[in-house]
Amino acid sequence: MPTYRFSAPARLVVLGSGSGTNLQALLDAASEEEYAARVVAVGADRPGIEGLARAERAGIDTFVERVRDHPDRSAWDAALAEQVARHEPDLVISAGFMKLFGPRFLDRFAGRTLNTHPALSPSFPGMQGPQDALDYGVKVTGATLFVVDGGVDTGPIVAQVPVAVEPDDDAAALHERIKTAERAMLVDTVGRMAREGFSVEGRSVRIGS
Ligand code: GRF
Repeated sequence: MPTYRFSAPARLVVLGSGSGTNLQALLDAASEEEYAARVVAVGADRPGIEGLARAERAGIDTFVERVRDHPDRSAWDAALAEQVARHEPDLVISAGFMKLFGPRFLDRFAGRTLNTHPALSPSFPGMQGPQDALDYGVKVTGATLFVVDGGVDTGPIVAQVPVAVEPDDDAAALHERIKTAERAMLVDTVGRMAREGFSVEGRSVRIGS
């Protein structure tokens, strides 16, 4: 059973594609001495995003790896893995990173790459979690933190948080409320994983021993 334990503080590389509010929550938490993890680098698949600006303001290394700068997806995947590896992460956190990892990335970081998804898995995988939840008419949705595997939002679940759907919600309003809960879950869970370690056996993830 793969088991991970880290010397404090654990090294986090965070990957994003957009506004980076989950990243900011991790940066804020990690600025506290007692939080057992530090963000050592932030990567993106496109330049000019707020997530990179947040990292720069915090004085953290950044990198950008664009698919279009590579002959194919596999070459991009290998280059992304190289960039991440340079920062010697204990955990890789995909927080709003809008690309699927390929086999070359997962060969290196599977088991210790986490992703957040704005729905309660296994419901509503993919890019439109909040809209799909509204369209289905569920009364409760939420966010899921999981260990990345080769599928779309299919990996072993680490933590989930429920969020009630309100009668007048549109996808944007619902997603904003989900993100508030998602950020708290991410910070709390990554902190516990960094402090206590974790193991993955089949679909079961256990934090601590
Ligand atoms: C989060 O809700 C994440 O689950 C989804 O995209 C959003 C990213 O938000 N994949 P941010 O960039 O962290 O603000």
